[in-house]
Amino acid sequence: MRFLKFSLIAAALAILKFATAEEPYMFAPVGQMVFYSCTYLIGSTALLTEETFTDDDFYYGAYCDPQNPVTLGTLAHCLIDGFSTHAREREKGLDYTLKYCKPLNLTREELEFAYDNATDYLVDSSELASDPNFNMTELYYSPIKWNVTTIQQVYDTFYSFDMNFTWSTVFSIVLVSYWFIVIGIAGICNLLYFVAPNLINSKFNGDISKSFRKHISLPATFRKSHANFVSLKYFLWILPTRLESLLIFGWFILVLAFNIAHINHVSPNYFWPDNEVAEISREVADRSGIIAVYLIPVNILFAGRNNILLFVSGWSQSRLLTFHRWTSRIMFVCVILHSVGMAVSAAAQQLYAETNSETYVIWGYVGTISGAILCIHSFLRFRSTNYELFLLGHIVFAAIFIVGGWIHVRDLGYEIWYITATCVWGFDRLLRLARLAVFGLQTAVVELKADEMFKVTVPRPKYWKPFPGCHAYIHFIRPTCFWQSHPFTLVDYKLDDGTDVIIMYIKVKGGVTHGFHRFLSLQPGQTAMVKVLVEGPYGERIPIDRFQNSVFVAGGNGIPGLYSEAIDLSRRYSNTTKRIRFYWVIRNWRTLQWFADELKQFEGTKVETIIYVTKPEIEIFYEEVDKKRGKVGDFLQSSLISPADSIKSDLAFVEFREGRPIIEDIVKLEMKDLQGTKCFISCAHPLMVDEMRHFISESLDMSEDRVDYFEQIQVW
Ligand SMILES: Cc1cc2nc3c(=O)[nH]c(=O)nc-3n(C[C@H](O)[C@H](O)[C@H](O)COP(=O)(O)OP(=O)(O)OC[C@H]3O[C@@H](n4cnc5c(N)ncnc54)[C@H](O)[C@@H]3O)c2cc1C
Ligand SMILES: *[C@@H]1O[C@H](CO)[C@@H](O)[C@H](O)[C@H]1NC(C)=O
Ligand SMILES: *[C@@H]1O[C@H](CO)[C@@H](O)[C@H](O)[C@H]1NC(C)=O
Repeated sequence: MRFLKFSLIAAALAILKFATAEEPYMFAPVGQMVFYSCTYLIGSTALLTEETFTDDDFYYGAYCDPQNPVTLGTLAHCLIDGFSTHAREREKGLDYTLKYCKPLNLTREELEFAYDNATDYLVDSSELASDPNFNMTELYYSPIKWNVTTIQQVYDTFYSFDMNFTWSTVFSIVLVSYWFIVIGIAGICNLLYFVAPNLINSKFNGDISKSFRKHISLPATFRKSHANFVSLKYFLWILPTRLESLLIFGWFILVLAFNIAHINHVSPNYFWPDNEVAEISREVADRSGIIAVYLIPVNILFAGRNNILLFVSGWSQSRLLTFHRWTSRIMFVCVILHSVGMAVSAAAQQLYAETNSETYVIWGYVGTISGAILCIHSFLRFRSTNYELFLLGHIVFAAIFIVGGWIHVRDLGYEIWYITATCVWGFDRLLRLARLAVFGLQTAVVELKADEMFKVTVPRPKYWKPFPGCHAYIHFIRPTCFWQSHPFTLVDYKLDDGTDVIIMYIKVKGGVTHGFHRFLSLQPGQTAMVKVLVEGPYGERIPIDRFQNSVFVAGGNGIPGLYSEAIDLSRRYSNTTKRIRFYWVIRNWRTLQWFADELKQFEGTKVETIIYVTKPEIEIFYEEVDKKRGKVGDFLQSSLISPADSIKSDLAFVEFREGRPIIEDIVKLEMKDLQGTKCFISCAHPLMVDEMRHFISESLDMSEDRVDYFEQIQVW
């Protein structure tokens, strides 16, 4: 794992270095703007030379050939006289000219000589029209001069256009850095928990810290909804927490501001004479297009499983996916702004049809349309209806989005961001393959338990070490689903014969898990051997052990992760005063069947276990099953004769409570009851974890010592 982290860091540094390599369009140097203003004036005034250079990067070489006193004299006068009152621009312009014309060995002396020689022959540009020798399409033999005002106006036009690129680059860097800074700060806080828990308790538990946590970092955006979806007619949402919302909103405001800041109208404008619409829409389009391009790699990075942001921040994948969704949506707004801006600008110049027939523009459309598809099909409504279809579509359209954009900007100097994006994506995929290979193909025992859950036991290689609370993605190698990888929390376990295994407890839902349910119910003993591949372990450790007390609240099948954390804590801190409370909320007694063996491990440890059975009435249990299965199966027969009492006596160390727990009461009781720092960890039904979050942030004041909350449920 350490090797993995190092290679991730190395890759990130390589990308950073690669990405900051000099690119012509990122920052427009002053000297370049001066030089281009003069070459632009020459080219648009008269034909002074017929010399041509085919190399695009040396197109203006014809104007600085020391062998041609007419062009070089004209250029020198433009640079020196035109910028006589702007010494900095003049010097930078001269330096740039010498640099640009290096292939022709132009020297400063030659430039000055050409200036002096041309002085006697200069023709004023305003007199050309009345010169009988002058014809725009035929060679002209005298050096030309323009008045200073004209040169400065042309320079202003260039400055406004080129500086837009510089501003775009600066703003884009700020927008990307924003997230790295946020992640960096999160990383420092996370590190402090581990290395200086006392500091956290003493210094970060004052009024300011408390009210920050109470009002910003802990609660859901509005009242309670976070893990639980909110719905509005056909729409479904996962609402971010308040901190996430504020971070996204702050960033959004920056994006808005950066799309309009420093967009200027210059008059007269030589590129778009008397066409302010074309000018402004083009500048906005350039700005938003550049910002969008810079954001692509970060957006891909947010979505990766092997992701430097994850392990620096210690944040969950689902939080980063929240950022992924929102920054991508906002990026798409920039893409739209770019497309519309370009279209408006072209239309304002009557160039709409012509522009649209260009290949790179067509690829731009392809990219924009796939961006739109990506945004719409990733609505939670579609995502949750058929996750596999969503995933496939997402990969395909994201690839088209990248290819389209890449071709679109190929000749503009922005390829680097597409290369970076591809590297980020490819790197993640490569590491995923490597992880699969490291685990190797294994044969898992899959057993259906209590008709609602199946337990997957996979032997693990010795060197593959899981940690408490981690999850892994599993591929069941069966013809109908081998390509799908589903995340499950895992528990590390040693079988009686000494084999190291990982166990996943999988709740039957509607997709693969449903198919498995059918498959297993037909197997003898409802058990099968299945070949599996496992990719992991993923997740970041949370600093639970740095608190004096831990309160776990698990609901239904949310127990495995919390169980491994609790058992790990109880083993490591058996002889301390640390207290561990473990609540498990289940619907009925039969749920206990599939986790009883594990629970027994709590016996004799310091884990104080309390189990709530919310629907203990056996009648209700009957009815439900009857409706579902049409008959009472063998398994149920057997559970009939082993009622609650036998379970209770088996788990005598557990306190059983019948009925629904009142989360508010549990939280407040623990706040009062437990002395010292405490953390709450929960993984349960979304409504329940939302209640936890709500009541913990509300009652932070009840505890003298630091209180924290870690939510272990992840939904995306
Ligand atoms: C970090 C993490 C840990 C998890 N741990 C457990 C666990 O220990 N036990 C357990 O029973 N469940 C766990 N889940 C949920 C589990 O991944 C899904 O229930 C499972 O993938 C559903 O498979 P399905 O094809 O039957 O789903 P479907 O019925 O097709 O979909 C049900 C829902 O599951 C989610 N889902 C489906 N496929 C994926 C996927 N490939 N990746 C992410 N989400 C998906 C979607 O939100 C979908 O709405 C965990 C999820 C996450 C993110
Ligand atoms: C000086 O400039 C004139 C006009 O451009 C040109 O004909 C002449 O050759 C130049 N003299 C030298 C020495 O370059
Ligand atoms: C300029 O020259 C072209 C031929 O090269 C000629 O057709 C045109 O009439 C000329 N224009 C003027 C104004 O003399």
